[in-house]
Amino acid sequence: MYYVQEITEKIFWVGGNDRRLERFENMFPIPQGVAYNSYLIMDEKTALIDTVDAAISALYLENVTHVLDGRPLDYLIVNHMEPDHCANIEELVRRYPGVKIVGNKKTFQFIEQFYSFNCQENYHEVREGEELALGERTLQFFFAPMVHWPEVMVTYEQKEKILFSADAFGSFGAHPGTLFSDQVDFEHFYLDEARRYYTNIVGKYGLQVQAALKKLSSLDIRMICSVHGPVWRRNLSYILDKYDRWSRYEPEQRGVVLFYASMYGNTENVMNRIAGKLAEKGVRDMRMYDVSKTHASYIIADAWKYSHLVIGSPTYNMGLYFVMEALLHEMAGLNFQNRKVALVGNYTWACKSVPAMRNLVENMKKMEIIGSPFEVNSSMKAAQEPELDKLVDDIYASLLAEGYRNEAD
Ligand SMILES: Cc1cc2nc3c(=O)[nH]c(=O)nc-3n(C[C@H](O)[C@H](O)[C@H](O)COP(=O)(O)O)c2cc1C
Ligand SMILES: [Fe+2]
Ligand SMILES: [Fe+2]
Repeated sequence: MYYVQEITEKIFWVGGNDRRLERFENMFPIPQGVAYNSYLIMDEKTALIDTVDAAISALYLENVTHVLDGRPLDYLIVNHMEPDHCANIEELVRRYPGVKIVGNKKTFQFIEQFYSFNCQENYHEVREGEELALGERTLQFFFAPMVHWPEVMVTYEQKEKILFSADAFGSFGAHPGTLFSDQVDFEHFYLDEARRYYTNIVGKYGLQVQAALKKLSSLDIRMICSVHGPVWRRNLSYILDKYDRWSRYEPEQRGVVLFYASMYGNTENVMNRIAGKLAEKGVRDMRMYDVSKTHASYIIADAWKYSHLVIGSPTYNMGLYFVMEALLHEMAGLNFQNRKVALVGNYTWACKSVPAMRNLVENMKKMEIIGSPFEVNSSMKAAQEPELDKLVDDIYASLLAEGYRNEAD
């Protein structure tokens, strides 16, 4: 049976949740599921904003049919052509042959690349800033290229001042019954998943997100309707600020993320010792991860959140332990930048992990290596304690220099 929610008097959420999907993009674990949001505006003309993933098509079509209540669908706005939002275009055209598909040149190019049905006579191409009157309401389109994909645009509804933002301001996590961010404790319920979504999915395109934020700054926005996660109708500056910071690659918090690879536990031992020594100095904001255990997306999200990283890896086949190498490549691919980093290497006959990590880190922008990398020859020895203390002192000094406030002081 249909399941829809009213957003405003004549605008309905007609999307759905997927709590079964193991991995988003077949890569990112989503233990809390994901929502695919689509919105239907019931004005003199009817307009549907984006569609949903194929996994929930049956319910989705029921939702749309229910809200339309016998009326035809006049417009289908395609803000983003990624298949998690476009799986239902063909079926909608079949059911509503008069529907105008609203998009830009790239949108239509992508429709033809992904699908083989013929709907050219349904195309309604719009240009940057163009308006579309629906009756009482008017939509306006702004292009946001590479705020995930090149064809992305956002749609602004002028009467109720709603921004339909495509993937922007989205989050992993299915709706827990509630739809609006102010109906849950967002920081507790969504923030980590919103950060993991942004950093891993859109993180590479900080510059383009900044350009989009600048373009939208002149609009009076009262509500943000993304295609994933909750709808924002209160305290919009909160999520706008987060996006601004994330897309500038600025840490949200002073603190340390320690992540390591270790086979026999000796690199792990050094990482524990570093974290323990930092804790003795009063550092409280620390996270530690074994890269072989925790999915990279979680580590990347925390690396985005915190100001300092400690990275440890054994040498493996004259290079870097594969999982660590893959993680650092992934971070570089996401344009990760602007952090302070301490390095820990380990080896039994020839240490290659430190130069390999240094090379990967230094190829990222605005990265600073703290102190001297700490190298262990198979296992740490007591004689190395002063050297480790020195590195910990350097990390601590860097934290203080970056404005870390030590609660223990
Ligand atoms: C498949 C394999 C390849 C390795 N390759 C190297 C190497 O090229 N050079 C080296 O010095 N040690 C190499 N090692 C040894 C580890 O780097 C070394 O034992 C290290 O101390 C392990 O740290 P851990 O206790 O944190 O796992 C290799 C180990 C394995 C299992
Ligand atoms: Fe997308
Ligand atoms: Fe998406």
